[in-house]
Amino acid sequence: MINPKLPAILFGGDYNPDQWPEGTWQEDMRLLKLAGVNMVTVPVFSWAKLQPAEDQYDFEWLDRVLDLLAENGIYACLATSTAAQPAWMSLKYPEVMPVDVYGRKRNHGKRVNFCPNSRAYREFSSRLARKLAERYKDHPALLYWRVANEYGTYCYCDNCAKAFREWLKERCGTIEELNRRWNLSFWGHTVYSWEEITVPSELNDDNKWYQPKALDYMRFMTDSTIECFLGEYRAIKEVTPHLMVTTNISGYIKKLDQFKWAQYVDIVSWDNYPRPEHRMSVVALKHDLMRGLKNGQPYILAEQTPSSQNWQPYNILKRPGVMRLLSYQALARGADTVMFFQMRQSKAGVEKLHGALISHAGHEHTRVFKECARLGAELRNIGARFLDSRIQAKAAIMFDWDNWWAVELCSGPSRDLDYFDQVEKYYHALWKLNIATDIIQPNADLSKYDLVIAPLLYMTKPGTAKNIENYVRGGGTFVTSFFSGIVDENDHVILGGYPGELKDVLGIWVEEIDGLLPDMKNGIVMNQPLGELNGTYACGLICDLLHLRGAEALAVYETDFYAGRPCLTSNQFGKGTAYYVATDPEQQFVDQFVKYLCELRGLKPPLDVPGGVEVTQRHKGDQEFIFVLNHDRAEAEIDLGCKKYLDLISGKEKQGRIRLPGLDVLILEEVQRAFGSNYVTRS
Ligand code: GLA
Ligand code: ZN
Repeated sequence: MINPKLPAILFGGDYNPDQWPEGTWQEDMRLLKLAGVNMVTVPVFSWAKLQPAEDQYDFEWLDRVLDLLAENGIYACLATSTAAQPAWMSLKYPEVMPVDVYGRKRNHGKRVNFCPNSRAYREFSSRLARKLAERYKDHPALLYWRVANEYGTYCYCDNCAKAFREWLKERCGTIEELNRRWNLSFWGHTVYSWEEITVPSELNDDNKWYQPKALDYMRFMTDSTIECFLGEYRAIKEVTPHLMVTTNISGYIKKLDQFKWAQYVDIVSWDNYPRPEHRMSVVALKHDLMRGLKNGQPYILAEQTPSSQNWQPYNILKRPGVMRLLSYQALARGADTVMFFQMRQSKAGVEKLHGALISHAGHEHTRVFKECARLGAELRNIGARFLDSRIQAKAAIMFDWDNWWAVELCSGPSRDLDYFDQVEKYYHALWKLNIATDIIQPNADLSKYDLVIAPLLYMTKPGTAKNIENYVRGGGTFVTSFFSGIVDENDHVILGGYPGELKDVLGIWVEEIDGLLPDMKNGIVMNQPLGELNGTYACGLICDLLHLRGAEALAVYETDFYAGRPCLTSNQFGKGTAYYVATDPEQQFVDQFVKYLCELRGLKPPLDVPGGVEVTQRHKGDQEFIFVLNHDRAEAEIDLGCKKYLDLISGKEKQGRIRLPGLDVLILEEVQRAFGSNYVTRS
């Protein structure tokens, strides 16, 4: 649990009092309390104010902010403010400024505009973190720590180049090994000393044309940024070892390997800003991914907008009820907090039109404020009841950053390959069925799952194929899709035929890969019905041309010179079955195929509900909480069966057939259990 002191879900978010005269702060406190805010993150971007000069610090204003929060019963997540360094630092220590992928030395401005390998940045940021920790370690408002903000700058400066060579030396040992690892004989790139190694950027195009090197640079940037973070982390932990330290992950998560990051934070924390075109399963997938980063441990929803954003091309308002629904969705999928960016809307700068709890109008009589306040009151009433509870999943989807990077660095077979989209396509099917799903790494323990899906598993790292084989041999059901098993961890093709190390478990051999033109389609013709799967389905993007090596063909291509050849196969392997989907099918095919597999394995949702209703279940000891979210605007009829439930939001009992209004939510606990632990219903 984030803080056992707190009797309720953390509710609040980024608060930037330093953008306002102190006279505003009292009014802020009134409004925050009115909205039910119990925690704010402060000060997120205030380094220049906290340290006006190299040898000068000013914490007094922050003392007053924290004291005010404590007086008003509001906790603080103390942010270290290090995402935007002061201008004096950038001027005096030019090495702090990063060099971008085009080779341009940046100058001071914006934020997250520093080199993660800059010694000066690292020293100054850790020093500030330590000073904050020493000053506030006993402050009654202090709950936990947030370091910096949305890391993710890739730098290509000379310091980074030097550090990259050291990183490579450590990993490769010898220059011969580096030549092997990057296959540098290709295009005559062989190097004879470490000094000859450049960074892959737009200056040499190795960022696009030399995949093993580009891939290693992404790994190196992840490691460099973690090191940078750890300077602050360690400084804080030395002073306040009992408090949790985290950093908020951007919702656009590709740049840094978050499975790796998660090992170094005490709790995962992320910012949820769905794009209007995102279907709800995209958001759900990101939540499940965040929950998966630390093996199912609850995480922090650190930011979301109460209503509008400013940085999308078109900034559509969150319609009435949507913010509440998305907030409960986070809790439903494993978050233990509901937080926003930001508490008071900025009056100038790029975010002046970004939504906030307190709008430019400056009072509580707004739709957004009222919706937030309603939610704040509901969360307070729910209390700490389901905090720290877990989701128990029998289905899992493999997800891997190296695979993501490598597949999208790959030149061919199609520039339209989008790993996240492929994963989401399969995830969407499970989400629609309300089957609890864990997002796991390819080498994770698979023994607790009945169904494991690894869409587009282009890269198999050491141990992955064996892990999958053991799982299937023991009775597991495994699915992978086209263009899988192609390369090893260095992006070298695994020779002897695709899908490399997965050939045996899948019982197939892929001879050719057809990257279709955008308007080209083929069809999947089922050999016989498989559950609801029947007839012909459209497919495109990639068509693998494969031979059976023991597997059975369940469907064949409809047209082209490979008409009649298998495109969906199943292979009995030990006690289990491994399926291969050799092309990119229309969504309906994936939905019906996944449904068939879930039925085969007996995977069931916590409740049977109509389409458009999302259901999850969190467990804590013998307590179970069922979340029911109606994403539809229309009312949904739901059959709760004969069990009697308590809805933790309304405090009312629910049983049998009920009607759930559009965009509304229930959190159900079986009455016997709820009363067994002295829960009091409200009328
Ligand atoms: C990010 C940042 C915040 C804010 C929001 C606006 O998530 O962390 O500081 O800029 O975006 O959407
Ligand atoms: Zn750099």
